[in-house]
Amino acid sequence: MWRASVITIFPDMFPGPLGASLAGKARAAGIWDLAAVDLRDHATDRHRSVDDTPAGGGPGMVLRADVLARAIDTVAPATDDRPRLLTSPRGKPLTQARVAALAKGPGVVVVCGRFEGVDERVIQARNLEEVSIGDYVLSGGELAAMVLIDACVRLLPGVMGKEASGAEESFSDGLLEYPHYTRPQLFEGRDIPAVLVSGDHGRVAAWRRAEAERLTRERRPDLWAAHAAARDGPSARPAHVPGDAPKKATDG
Ligand SMILES: C[S@@+](CC[C@H](N)C(=O)[O-])C[C@H]1O[C@@H](n2cnc3c(N)ncnc32)[C@H](O)[C@@H]1O
Repeated sequence: MWRASVITIFPDMFPGPLGASLAGKARAAGIWDLAAVDLRDHATDRHRSVDDTPAGGGPGMVLRADVLARAIDTVAPATDDRPRLLTSPRGKPLTQARVAALAKGPGVVVVCGRFEGVDERVIQARNLEEVSIGDYVLSGGELAAMVLIDACVRLLPGVMGKEASGAEESFSDGLLEYPHYTRPQLFEGRDIPAVLVSGDHGRVAAWRRAEAERLTRERRPDLWAAHAAARDGPSARPAHVPGDAPKKATDG
């Protein structure tokens, strides 16, 4: 069973949306499990303190390394081989490729930051992988943890209805997904593209591929460049890309 453990000062936020729809049904079916662990249970003072003022001064509070380390060690002792993630706006942006890799593993341990963040030393001491869900700042890591877990759970075997539905969607082959249509045939003067009702599966597939490429080119030049580079191979790369390591004399 794929297991997610979340360390948070707001365990009552869970399962939240993870208790509904696909994820909720899959959890009820025993495909995955979720444990929300209260960080305050690992405090040692009578106020159950988990944070303190930042060294060097400044606004806000910082989650303490010792309390967090105790929580991590309890939830995931050394024998637990699940990756330990820390939600963080300065982390590596979460991608579908990383999600797919996490879904193939035993599960995740996710630490939810709060306030100004967590003491740097626990990130190093417990080898936490910092993960961001986008270039904006949330008030806490709980929503980010839910996003990450939801994205993983839907990829677990038996969770999605049709086997195919994961294979063709956005990012799965480096492209955004093509547009969808359904009945009615005519909506406020707008028709379904004729090719989609032609019954010609080859033409439908070609149209979808072309639309996926067009949308990716228009909306995500970063993805398009990576897709084009992967498709065309290393020989199609320009001789020198700014920021690349200098080319060696022996290169191609
Ligand atoms: C108010 S934020 C801290 C922001 C931090 N002081 C900074 O400027 O980078 C509190 C917590 O929310 C979570 N968080 C905020 N934005 C996030 C994002 N884009 N991705 C993942 N987690 C995020 C992190 O756990 C973070 O420690």
